[in-house]
Amino acid sequence: MTKSLETGFENLDLLPPGAGNAATWEKPRPETASEITAPQRELSPGGQRILMCSPEHFEVDYIINPWMENQVGKTNPALAREQWANLRWHLSEETAISLVAPEPGLPDMVFTANAGMVIGKTAIISRFRTEERRLEEPLFRNWFKQHGFVIAPWPEEVPFEGAGDALLDRARPLIWCGYGLRSGEGAPRLLETIFGRRTVGLRLVDPRFYHLDTCFCPLADGWLLYYPPAFDRDSQEAIATLVPPEKRIGVGENDALLFACNAVDINGRIFMNSASEPLQERLRAAGFQPVLTPLTEFIKAGGAAKCLTLKLVET
Ligand code: ARG
Repeated sequence: MTKSLETGFENLDLLPPGAGNAATWEKPRPETASEITAPQRELSPGGQRILMCSPEHFEVDYIINPWMENQVGKTNPALAREQWANLRWHLSEETAISLVAPEPGLPDMVFTANAGMVIGKTAIISRFRTEERRLEEPLFRNWFKQHGFVIAPWPEEVPFEGAGDALLDRARPLIWCGYGLRSGEGAPRLLETIFGRRTVGLRLVDPRFYHLDTCFCPLADGWLLYYPPAFDRDSQEAIATLVPPEKRIGVGENDALLFACNAVDINGRIFMNSASEPLQERLRAAGFQPVLTPLTEFIKAGGAAKCLTLKLVET
């Protein structure tokens, strides 16, 4: 395996799922130094760019959510790298990808959804609730600074875990912000002030779904994929008021536990760890194409497709 010094990205000799042989598959291109210093220059045809972080230091070595219980030391590094590379390969068909260098001793840095939140050229850097992850903050801050983002000030005393808890609606001019388990109660109001956009706070009540993106996924054309019991009653009502019933795709507990809501939607395709056949059928009926890409090693740490990505081009 070769390794790029700039990114720590390893060129993995992997085939995407379903690929016949190496000759028919083009390996993901390793990031070059110029791309790292000027990642905004070149975008995918759809204009999207996603931030990822390679999993070479990924493991479970502390417990900060229920998924991590009994998983310390139990991840399979080779399988994690393969699953991550497959996700990257799938995404690279639809979007440009930037990489932030992983850091030894920061196993959860691979979950770049928690780097911060971006709208336009403004970024808010996460203020993690847990000490374990606070060490990631300066690294993500540097990355955003080096890539031309304006960092909006955020108060030290309000936890906020970035795009893990703050998601843009894809049809309505609003931000959905989960709070109560990781991000603090004050986070929605602060987002509304900083971005000047209506922000709807949703209280999370099930510790298994501790970030909004584990149970809630706004999709194109105003569709919403979500697991209603993860929210308190008022939040369920707020969702029902803002999203018409025919646009709500509520999932059952089994699909929620498969991280079906932890999905990345790009150009009508929805990348996710897994989903039941009936859920896939509902997504197809709504005009989407589900793409399943197993991420079981990352679920041991409580994250899947969406957690492993951060959309950098948001309006
Ligand atoms: N172990 C990580 C944590 O508990 C997982 C983060 C998953 N990220 C996400 N956006 N849901 O913080």
